[in-house]
Amino acid sequence: MSSEAFHTVGGELHVEDVPLAAIAARHGTPCYVYSRAALTDAYREFDQAFADMPHLVCYAMKANPALAILDLFARLGSGFDIVSGGELARVIAAGGDPRRVVFSGVGKSDDEMEAALRAGILCFNVESESELAHLGAVATRLGLRAPVSFRVNPDVDPRTHPYIATGLKESKFGVAFEAAPRLYREASTMPAIDVRGIDMHIGSQITELAPYREAVAKLLALVDALAADGIALSHVDVGGGLGVRYRDETPVAIADYAAAIRALMTGRRERLLLEPGRRLVANAGVLIARVRVLKRSGARNFAVVDAAMNDLIRPSLYDAWHSVQPVRASSGDALAYDIVGPVCESGDFLALDRRLPLAEGDLVAIGSAGAYAMSMSSNYNARPRAAEVLVDGRDVHLIRRRESYADLIAHESRLP
Ligand code: LLP
Repeated sequence: MSSEAFHTVGGELHVEDVPLAAIAARHGTPCYVYSRAALTDAYREFDQAFADMPHLVCYAMKANPALAILDLFARLGSGFDIVSGGELARVIAAGGDPRRVVFSGVGKSDDEMEAALRAGILCFNVESESELAHLGAVATRLGLRAPVSFRVNPDVDPRTHPYIATGLKESKFGVAFEAAPRLYREASTMPAIDVRGIDMHIGSQITELAPYREAVAKLLALVDALAADGIALSHVDVGGGLGVRYRDETPVAIADYAAAIRALMTGRRERLLLEPGRRLVANAGVLIARVRVLKRSGARNFAVVDAAMNDLIRPSLYDAWHSVQPVRASSGDALAYDIVGPVCESGDFLALDRRLPLAEGDLVAIGSAGAYAMSMSSNYNARPRAAEVLVDGRDVHLIRRRESYADLIAHESRLP
């Protein structure tokens, strides 16, 4: 998936059959808008590329954990990659099947392990020796067996932003490649541990195939060495990380990704697990915002909009580039604007130096906002979180109402 969820009809941006301006009028701004068709197409394209291999897509829900999106993917047959007890609760609330859940993360608590064991998840992706010991103890206490993979760190450079590279030796994630055989032997002697598979995740927004080829090949060599040692694994989880087009990147085609993995997996007996996040949702969403103030300071022109870094932190945190387009023709002059929010931080920007015709009151659409956007939002500056809608043809479903000021203080108390 490499193009935006919106298109222009009669000079106005639409998502499916609905003008974005109509959504803003009805639901206010800032507002996240997702396309059901784009989500469905992205899931199907990914899933079907692996149709000839035993596989399970476990959507990495951290990218966008909206219940409606989990519900949609669950109906399409998806499993889920979770990283917390909260994410497990969301899967269950959305009607997802815990037996299709893999649990990643470097710091699982005993309570989270217990909830996942009771729910009967497919596998724990174990990231340390300490976690293995905790999991063994929790499972023993419950009289259950914990299905386990080790997340092995293949020490491959995914050549992406350092904050989202996770498979290097210096990374906090996973267990060292060299340590894996010993950990597998140890796990296979533990009565409450059921050794099932192997796992990796080398990073995110990866736009080349070579790191995957290299890492999966390393992983499979390890699987063979383990088998020779009497430890047979039943699945191989290759993680997520496939990049999308935000600006001018050339993302790897799903078919090429599948072909590369197929070439390595041919003739093998293990089931393939995949954990795509961004690729399934990024370009199925846009954020609409309204221009509040146009101002000039020194040499720069600022368009202050009503969305901010608390709504979409990727530009501030990763220098990420998101497209910005006027929702309809503007009466304003085209100038090079920094598109900024009302938050009291100089780092509060959504886009820098974009030549756009803008007038106060105009609506803008910020593209590729389906992944790591709403899911990373906060209430900084006591800003209520945005509304989210999902468009299905001509229908607009409000899937999360805008937070109110009452919501902002609902969990707090004054002093006695
Ligand atoms: N599996 C594991 C274990 C992960 O940690 C992640 C993402 C994924 C799968 C999914 O990766 P994806 O297919 O979405 O690349 N907030 C950052 C991205 C952080 C990714 C964290 N882990 C961003 O906005 O770019």
